[in-house]
Amino acid sequence: MKPAINKKIIVIAHRGAAGYAPENTMASFQLAIEMKADFLELDIQLTKDGQLVVIHDTEVDRTSNGRGKVLDFTMAQLSELDAGSWFNAKFEGERMPTLSEVFDLCKGKIGILIEIKAPWLYPGIEQKLAEELRAHGMLDEDPASIIVQSFDQSSVKRFSAIMPQVLVGLLVYQSEDVTAEKLQETVVYADYVNPSLNLVTKSFIDTIHALGKKTTPWTVRSAAEVPPLLDLNVDGIITDYPDYVK
Ligand code: G3P
Ligand code: CA
Repeated sequence: MKPAINKKIIVIAHRGAAGYAPENTMASFQLAIEMKADFLELDIQLTKDGQLVVIHDTEVDRTSNGRGKVLDFTMAQLSELDAGSWFNAKFEGERMPTLSEVFDLCKGKIGILIEIKAPWLYPGIEQKLAEELRAHGMLDEDPASIIVQSFDQSSVKRFSAIMPQVLVGLLVYQSEDVTAEKLQETVVYADYVNPSLNLVTKSFIDTIHALGKKTTPWTVRSAAEVPPLLDLNVDGIITDYPDYVK
């Protein structure tokens, strides 16, 4: 039996409050908590030494002062990189967090929407995530405080097979992914279908709801994008600016 999120609309701080602080850092996650978002979203990958690190791109270049692929660094090496200055000099010294560090910060304070990024590069990442969730007791007090999602349907299914009690979602961004047939496939494994804003129409949201799924579109970066989404009865909004959703 899956847990239920009872709030009508959840505000999800994308990569933390990424409009205000460097994405996927403790600064952006702390801000999401202070801004009273219901959830924060983050991206996970595996390091060379098999640790779950929080970073969006499969290379470190855009969001740090390093160069190269995440999978070629150990966690200790990634921890030496500056993941804040690229955003603003005042964030110099922000580091790429481990998922474990984010769990320690967030448990009991904010929900976490965890995106498994590029799972084909990281065999076993779903098992590792399950172990980390268990080790931190992240589902003990509030089982509805964790949602796991990916663009990769196989990864979502693999994770669900390991932890069937956790809420899971499929991310979609192109029209080929959301044919009636493909949406029907999600019925058996997904609790959420989370589309890019460019796919959002009344009929699309109604179809997802008719299939018994919830939906939290992404990524709102303008306040004007919020009211139309609320009118469509979405179940949550993923945004770089949690304060835009009143
Ligand atoms: O949670 C939705 C969103 O994060 C998916 O896209 O590229 O920001 O990871 P991206
Ligand atoms: Ca993401």
